Amino acid sequence: MCGIVGYIGNSDVVEILVNGLNTLKYRGYDSAGVALFDENKIKVYKAVGKLENLKDKLSTVKSEIKNPFMGIGHIRWATHGKANEVNAHPHTSTTSDIVIVHNGIIENFKELREELIKKGCVFKSETDTEVVAHLISEEYKNTKNLKEAVKNALPQLKGAYALCIMSINEPDNIVCVRKNAPLIIGVGENENIIASDIPAIISLTSNIIYLNDDEIAVVKKDSVSIENLDGTIIPCKIVKMFVETDAISKMGYKHYMLKEIHEQPNIVRNLLNGRIIDVNSSVELPEIKISKDTLKNLSKVQIIACGTSLHAGQIGKYLIEDFAGVSVEVEPASEYIYRKNTTDENSLVIAISQSGETADTITAVKQAKGKGAYIVVITNRPDSNITRYADSVLNVNAGIEVSVAATKSYTAQLLTLYLFAIYLAEIKGENLDKLSDLKRELLSIPTKMEEILTTEGDIEKKSEQLSKYKNFVYIGRGVNLPTAMEGALKLKEISYINANAYPAGELKHGPIALLDENMPVVSVLIPGHISYDKTISNCEEAKARNAKLITVTSSNDEKLSKLFDVIIKIPEVSDILSPLLSVIPFQLLAYHISNFLGKDVDQPRNLAKSVTVE
Ligand code: F6R
Repeated sequence: MCGIVGYIGNSDVVEILVNGLNTLKYRGYDSAGVALFDENKIKVYKAVGKLENLKDKLSTVKSEIKNPFMGIGHIRWATHGKANEVNAHPHTSTTSDIVIVHNGIIENFKELREELIKKGCVFKSETDTEVVAHLISEEYKNTKNLKEAVKNALPQLKGAYALCIMSINEPDNIVCVRKNAPLIIGVGENENIIASDIPAIISLTSNIIYLNDDEIAVVKKDSVSIENLDGTIIPCKIVKMFVETDAISKMGYKHYMLKEIHEQPNIVRNLLNGRIIDVNSSVELPEIKISKDTLKNLSKVQIIACGTSLHAGQIGKYLIEDFAGVSVEVEPASEYIYRKNTTDENSLVIAISQSGETADTITAVKQAKGKGAYIVVITNRPDSNITRYADSVLNVNAGIEVSVAATKSYTAQLLTLYLFAIYLAEIKGENLDKLSDLKRELLSIPTKMEEILTTEGDIEKKSEQLSKYKNFVYIGRGVNLPTAMEGALKLKEISYINANAYPAGELKHGPIALLDENMPVVSVLIPGHISYDKTISNCEEAKARNAKLITVTSSNDEKLSKLFDVIIKIPEVSDILSPLLSVIPFQLLAYHISNFLGKDVDQPRNLAKSVTVE
C-alpha cells in the first residue's frame, strides 16, 4: 500500500518522480504528492484523487519550479485520516526543515504525537506518518546530521515503515530506511533513485540495491552508503535485475487486467516447462529444500493466505488431500493469527501471497515459524518480505501484475499447487497410478486456456446483457466452489456489483430466499464427478424461483440449453483440473461487465494491490 519514489541527479526531477509514481499506482491511488529541493527551499505539492490531479497541479505551478536537484514523491492509500490534501504525503515538521514520505504504519503514533505536541510540535494532518517528520526534526536539533537524527528516531517507532527523508540543511542527499516494508535503490550514472517497487526504477537503471530492515542509506547523486542502527557499515550489494518492460506496458490492450488475463496460457506453459519433463517421471521441484523424509511424515498441512490467494489455497486443499492423502486446513491469514492454532514442528505451513507483502500473511508465517513449522511460500515476488521466513520459496513466475484484481497470479498459484500436490504424492507413494494421466492432462491446459480466450467476443456480448443486474449469486461444488468464490470476488471488486458465492448445496439452506428474476445464479458444471448432477439439481431449484441461470461448463449435453439462459463453454477437462480453466470465463465476465459499466478496471475504488496493514 502506498508507493514511494525518491530521486537525486541531473535529470528532470519532477518528470522522474511523476513517472515513477505512475508505475506504482497499483499500490494505492487516493492522493499523491512530491517534495522538491529547489532553490535551497523544500517545495511541496499535493493533490487528492488520481495521480493525474497531481500532474495537473504541477503543470499549473510550472513557473514556480526552477531547477530541483532532488525530490521525493508518494502515492497514497489512506489508512489514518481521510484522503485529502492535508493527509497526503509528503509530510513536514513544524518548521518544514524535515520532509518525509512513508509507506507502512506507525503503531505508536498516538503516544508519540502527544509527546511531540508537549514539546511544541504543531501537527497539520491526521496521519500516523507526520509524527516521524517531527521526531526526526527534534533529533536533528541535537545531531545536526540527518542520518544520525534518523538513527536516533527509529528505535522510538513501532510498526512498519519505508521512509525517504530530506532535510533543508542537507541539499545533497536523501536518507532512506525500511522495516517490514519494501524499499530498493536503483543505482545509475551520476543519479540514484529510491522506490518501493521495481517498476518505478526500470526506465532509469537495472542495477538495484535491496535494502534490508533497519539499514539506513544515505543516497547522494554519485554514491550510496549504508549502515545499520549501531553504525556498522554495510557493503552495498548491487544486483543486476531482469528488466520486465513488457510487464509494465499494456501491450496494446485497453487495460492491464485484460492483458494479464491473456498472458495466462504462456505463464502456465512456462511453469510446466522443466517441471514435468516426462509424465512417467517425478515432478521436479528443486526449490523445495525440505527433506523428503520430513515431507513423508508430515502430520498436517495448513494453508494461509488472503483474498484471491486464499481461493487458490482452498483449491490446494482438495489437491493435496486428493493426491497425497494428507489432511489440509485452509484459513484466512487474518483469522489464523488471532486464535490458538495447532501448528507445531510436524506441520507444513504453505503461505500464498502474490505480492509477498500482505501484512496478515506475513504475521501468520512469522507465528507459524515461531512454532517450528516448515514454511513453503508461494509467491510472485521471490524478493519480497515474506520469503525471509520461508524454508522453501516457490516462485509462480507470472511477471509483475499491475492490475489490482489478481488474475494471472491466481492461475500461476494454482498450477504451482497442482505441481506441489503431485510432488508430495510422489514422495509419499500415493496414487501413483493416476498421476501420469494427470500430468499428461496438465500439459494440455495452456492450449485449452488459449481456446477459451478465443471465445472472448462471445463472453463480451453476454457480459453486456448481464451488466444490468445489481446482484449475483455464484455457486459451485467441490474443487470448483473456490472458483465460484473467485468469480464473485472478481465481479464485486471491479464492477461494485454485489456478488456472493455459496456451496451449491447450501443454496436451499437460506440463500434461495434471495432468488427471483432479478438475481442471476452463476454456476460451474464439470461432468465426470457426482457433483455435476447435484449442481444441476441446485440450478433447477433456482430456476423454479425464476432466477436467470448462467453456467460455465465443459459439458456438451444439449439438455443444458433448455435449463440455462447463458452457457459459456470451456474445453473438456477432468473435474480435478477444471479450476485452471473455469476461472477464465469468470475473469472475462467481470472484466467486460466492469468495462461496459465504465468502471476503473485496473484501479477499483478503495483497493490496493499490496495490503501491508493488518
Ligand atoms: C483480489 C486481490 C486480493 C489479493 C489479496 C492478497 O483480486 O488481488 O484479494 O489476492 O489482497 O494479496 P496477496 O496475494 O498479494 O497476498
